[in-house]
Amino acid sequence: MKSVNEVKTVFKSLAANESFARTVAAAFASQTDPVMSELAEFKTAVSEAVTNAAVHGYRDSVGNIVLKLKLYEGNVISATVSDRGVGIEDVKKAREPLFTTSETGEQAGMGFTVMESFCDGIKVRSKPGRGTTVVLTKKFRSKNGV
Ligand SMILES: Nc1ncnc2c1ncn2[C@@H]1O[C@H](COP(=O)(O)OP(=O)(O)OP(=O)(O)O)[C@@H](O)[C@H]1O
Ligand SMILES: [Mg+2]
Repeated sequence: MKSVNEVKTVFKSLAANESFARTVAAAFASQTDPVMSELAEFKTAVSEAVTNAAVHGYRDSVGNIVLKLKLYEGNVISATVSDRGVGIEDVKKAREPLFTTSETGEQAGMGFTVMESFCDGIKVRSKPGRGTTVVLTKKFRSKNGV
């Protein structure tokens, strides 16, 4: 399907850029005149994917994260978050609730579950050693009921 609008941003995998990504996602989605709760859900889902790219993908390094946002007819927005980090061995397992490879105890293993519950669609493509791409899709009900 052809998008009616799209933007692409590239930023370093630094903690400071997590709020940058949330803000960009919210600013882009605002053109659908969204209700606040849906906007908050979308921001949170994008932020989970970006945090994963930084914390897991670029575990011991700093690399580029690409965030692409697209708007389709019917107020459907997709966010594609890509990294060229370590990749995921077993995507199916990684997406299970409470699964985490984090050993610090700071990660709950709930990121993918949050993305799934706050979006209408999620696709994960990953290759060990090559990187990971997560595509989140969400349909916004605009305030005027469209
Ligand atoms: N971009 C990525 N690159 C490499 N591994 C990833 C990436 N995204 C997720 N993973 C793997 O998938 C696991 C599950 O991710 P998920 O976001 O569900 O949980 P978490 O990040 O461990 O914890 P939480 O998100 O609750 O803080 C991670 O622990 C990690 O092993
Ligand atoms: Mg996570």
